[in-house]
Amino acid sequence: MAIVQVRAVTKVYPLGDTTVNALDGVDLTVRAGDFLALTGPSGSGKSTLLNLICCLDLPTSGDVCIDGVRTTDLGEAALDQLRSRTIGMIFQSFNLIPVLNVQENVALPLHLHGMAASERRERVAEAIAAVGLTPFASSLPERLSGGQRQRVAIARALVTAPRLILADEPTASLDSANAFALIELMQSLNRDHGVTFLFSTHDDRLLRNVRDIVRLRDGRIETARRMPETELA
Ligand SMILES: Nc1ncnc2c1ncn2[C@@H]1O[C@H](COP(=O)(O)OP(=O)(O)OP(=O)(O)O)[C@@H](O)[C@H]1O
Ligand SMILES: [Mg+2]
Repeated sequence: MAIVQVRAVTKVYPLGDTTVNALDGVDLTVRAGDFLALTGPSGSGKSTLLNLICCLDLPTSGDVCIDGVRTTDLGEAALDQLRSRTIGMIFQSFNLIPVLNVQENVALPLHLHGMAASERRERVAEAIAAVGLTPFASSLPERLSGGQRQRVAIARALVTAPRLILADEPTASLDSANAFALIELMQSLNRDHGVTFLFSTHDDRLLRNVRDIVRLRDGRIETARRMPETELA
């Protein structure tokens, strides 16, 4: 089943007197259970496409459908629901709040959910345990390494139990050891918890471990290597 369907999407940005075609007719399907890498040179449109799929931005033309519903047909309340329940987003710069400790950062997306404090604490503890950071639950981000901060960002994306996690260059600022640990963590969440991943990367360390790769160039899909659906768990 398709979680995400991108059809004939274009995104045009104004640039001075001219325009940039950041996406120029992209079709992409993300199926439940996919672990799909988006790659391609700098400026090829990877971040633009992820931002459209997580509804931070709207396409100039074409459709983005999540669970079969066109995002352009949704009102603000429905978009908030989608962003806070179905989709988790991990940004390259982590976007952690420096004055909040690990638990408080991870709890942030749950404040929109109106759940009881006891359930919130439980979900936060589970997400922090899933990324192996239980001993650091009360630490401030400044006390953590780059790899640990990236794992906090993953815990924050996981805490709402999303079915789809979008990640923009998740290993870009990590050394090799932390990058491998992160890749393993993402793969185990995919394999054992059925979380669907779509992530952008330039990172060969990550691409070597991935079977499904879509390569963008100049806002178009240049090549796509996809496993047949029947092989998905
Ligand atoms: N907000 C914006 N305003 C104007 N142009 C933009 C904007 N965002 C992106 N672009 C342009 O759109 C094109 C695609 O950019 P995008 O950030 O999606 O590429 P990318 O593949 O993520 O690159 P990188 O690997 O460097 O992160 C680029 O030419 C970029 O300059
Ligand atoms: Mg980018």
